[in-house]
Amino acid sequence: MALDATWVRDHIRPIADYPQPGVTFRDITPLLGDAAAFGRAVDDLVTGFHDVEVSRVVGIESRGFILAAPVAYRLRAGFVPVRKAGKLPWAVAREEYELEYGSDKLEIHRDAIHPDEPILIVDDVLATGGTAEATAKLVEALGGRVVGIGVMIELEALGGRAKLANHRVESLTRY
Ligand code: PRP
Ligand code: MG
Repeated sequence: MALDATWVRDHIRPIADYPQPGVTFRDITPLLGDAAAFGRAVDDLVTGFHDVEVSRVVGIESRGFILAAPVAYRLRAGFVPVRKAGKLPWAVAREEYELEYGSDKLEIHRDAIHPDEPILIVDDVLATGGTAEATAKLVEALGGRVVGIGVMIELEALGGRAKLANHRVESLTRY
């Protein structure tokens, strides 16, 4: 199932040839800056997972934090940051992943998730799926159960959903 919220597009600014020629970047800052649209996007992400219990919401640095924290607040769930390598101060689990433009590493604190906890992952964009897949692996490495992956924008041509075939993915809008 995928949510049908085409209104989201009205608040997303396409930037041609950014960050490199041939790529159209989807700029979410107009949506974030609009009180009604920002609130509705958070509400719709919550609604997309109304039927599952969530103990903690995992947000992915950096744009994922913007959406994951208010989703966690709405769910009265905890918030867990997954961060780029070297940012978390305590013991971490680490996953390397391929990005649309290069590769990177993500980390999570080893005590951030307890065995069998139901976890919702939230990010702004699903592109190749590498970021979300690495995050799901981190959650599972700590024994958590990924009950869903919620994103505002899905770039369908990049095949992220196929990479996450074992997970429930909900997106507010698709390009
Ligand atoms: C962007 C975006 C997603 C990810 C999606 O993050 O915010 O997290 O790429 O790409 P993927 O599905 O191909 O992995 P980016 O790594 O650019 O960093 P940012 O959130 O800090 O801007
Ligand atoms: Mg990101």
